[in-house]
Amino acid sequence: MDRLDQIVAEATAAFSETGDPDALEQVKAIYLGRNGRITDLLKGLGKLPVDERKAAGAAVNRAKEAVESALQQRREALRRMALAARLAEEALDVSLPGRAQSRGGLHPVTRTLERIEALFRSIGFAVADGPEIEAEFQNFTALNTPEDHPARSMHDTFYLEDEAGRVAKGILLRTHTSPIQVRYMQAHVARYAGLETMPEIRVIAPGRVYRVDSDATHSPMFHQVEGLWIGESVSFADLKGVIGDFLRRFFESDDLQVRFRPSFFPFTEPSAEIDMAFTSGSLKGRWLEIAGCGMVHPNVLRHVGIDPERYIGFAFGMGPDRLTMLRYGVNDLRLFFDGDLRFLRQFV
Ligand code: FA5
Ligand code: MG
Repeated sequence: MDRLDQIVAEATAAFSETGDPDALEQVKAIYLGRNGRITDLLKGLGKLPVDERKAAGAAVNRAKEAVESALQQRREALRRMALAARLAEEALDVSLPGRAQSRGGLHPVTRTLERIEALFRSIGFAVADGPEIEAEFQNFTALNTPEDHPARSMHDTFYLEDEAGRVAKGILLRTHTSPIQVRYMQAHVARYAGLETMPEIRVIAPGRVYRVDSDATHSPMFHQVEGLWIGESVSFADLKGVIGDFLRRFFESDDLQVRFRPSFFPFTEPSAEIDMAFTSGSLKGRWLEIAGCGMVHPNVLRHVGIDPERYIGFAFGMGPDRLTMLRYGVNDLRLFFDGDLRFLRQFV
């Protein structure tokens, strides 16, 4: 084999034995570098007799091109191998089962509360809030509840204990949302103190309440939505209109009956329980108490500094958990608070 062919063959072999791009550039230097073997040959051309120079020059240049082309091919091959390795390393196994992101959903009672808020906002009610740990004054006293009223007893009310484990005086878990009436009226009176006429109070207040109570329609923690409308001429007829209209919109049905059953609350006079029943469907004819209500007692207005000779209005305290039971046909209230996902998922 001609010496040039041998150099080309050697170079080609050396290139293909080289596994990475940096090493390849080092091997390249042996042939094409400043003191490389091809370079040396080119330098040596000058020493040849003139008549041999041209042919020898052409031969060395061919060899140089052949080495360069072998180098180029190897570079290309290494680049492809690197890419293939990277693709293999980063490959996704599209046949693996996905990592599911489970989506949360709103609790059915939360849906009911949002719906109640939207419906009352649409007729001009504000939405207020209050503390769940409440003072006995707001929960009972300001609401005209006498000291010896049975609702105050420890059988019905969760009182808080102090650090020594004694029942802390005057602090309890609110037993209803009615204390928000008191807080809201107090703030309203303070805000409009200088005015000739107090602007109307129109507010609902949803929230959790607590009682020592547990069966299919009573849970120790449940929800209420308080309603309050005070003005110069708000009547019991307005109360009936607001409640009836609300229920028909809430259930998207005219097929329901509403009954105001005379009752007693210390903070309203007259007072009533509101019962409702559907007149069609599977729940037809079953009455369920959904709220207590009445005209706000003059003593309550006096307690918060509103003149009962001038202002009058109604209040109600509704049970949204029961509305949720009716809306979704659930027969045991406790299901809502057990946290069983098999039950809750049905509402998402
Ligand atoms: C009250 O709590 C009064 N504060 C309501 C009121 C407000 C009357 C304003 C007048 C003016 P009552 O205890 O009846 O009333 O409860 C009101 C509603 O809450 C009931 O009609 C019922 O729907 C719901 N409720 C009462 N106890 C429970 C319970 N343990 N579990 C679920 N819902 C209940
Ligand atoms: Mg009741």
